[in-house]
Amino acid sequence: MSNTPLETGYNSGVLGHGVPSERERLGTVERLLDPITLAALAPVALEPTARCLELGGGSGSIAYHLAELVPDGEVVVTDVDTSFLEQRFPNLRIVQHDLRRDPCPGEPFDLVHCRAVLEHLPQRRELVHSLRSWVRPGGHILLECYDTAAAAVTPYPLRAMVDALSRLMAQQIGTDLTFARRLPLAVTDSGFVTVDVSRHPFTIGDGGPGEAMLLTSIRQVLPALLESELLGPAELGAFTEWVGTPGNLDVYSHLCSVLARRPDGPD
Ligand SMILES: C[S@@+](CC[C@H](N)C(=O)[O-])C[C@H]1O[C@@H](n2cnc3c(N)ncnc32)[C@H](O)[C@@H]1O
Repeated sequence: MSNTPLETGYNSGVLGHGVPSERERLGTVERLLDPITLAALAPVALEPTARCLELGGGSGSIAYHLAELVPDGEVVVTDVDTSFLEQRFPNLRIVQHDLRRDPCPGEPFDLVHCRAVLEHLPQRRELVHSLRSWVRPGGHILLECYDTAAAAVTPYPLRAMVDALSRLMAQQIGTDLTFARRLPLAVTDSGFVTVDVSRHPFTIGDGGPGEAMLLTSIRQVLPALLESELLGPAELGAFTEWVGTPGNLDVYSHLCSVLARRPDGPD
């Protein structure tokens, strides 16, 4: 299997696996998001023989968790760059795969999960629709996307920082951090029945995992932000001072999780 990353806007940009701090950054993403994803998956009763698909698996925490849950089944974990994925379980299959254009990597699955990926792919709406046929009738899908709308209305210097980050990702990658708002409707419009929709807030100023993820991301992206002039030194100074002031606390984004089921029976 080739380990050379497929060429995409994502992996040649500021969040690509080739960026030296990206693995550490994905660790902060997993520490923040895994408890939310596992809670969102709780209503899904997976048989030990179930087959699961983890799309854009990053450094693999959810794929490894699923592999333990279905010891007699199979977990297929995909990514355009599989270099952070490890063959930790015999029932885990690692597949280099571009969600934008490659077919379903196998027969339809009992569970399909995709977190923090669709917002980065310009074809996001069509992809949600295509994923219907990747789930077996009666099976589940859990789609999760970041939503930075909270930062757009904050009165604090956080607004300029998150806005600059969002614009840089939009320019470099094609990211849309407002798609989460349209995700529930995209899912129901695609012929799924919604089981649960939830939104979890992430905070900065409390030294928690949300703050760790944001500050790690900012450190990684800062040279590109300043070079692009999407963020000026004055805005950076105001943000740094605000974050460094004890007692300051704010919500800067949410994760939107949509758990849905493909109806039983043929289309
Ligand atoms: C923000 S990371 C999220 C990783 C993981 N899903 C998580 O939540 O921990 C986005 C992941 O999507 C992968 N990715 C980007 N474009 C992709 C594509 N077109 N097809 C499949 N994976 C892609 C990236 O390589 C990266 O691992």
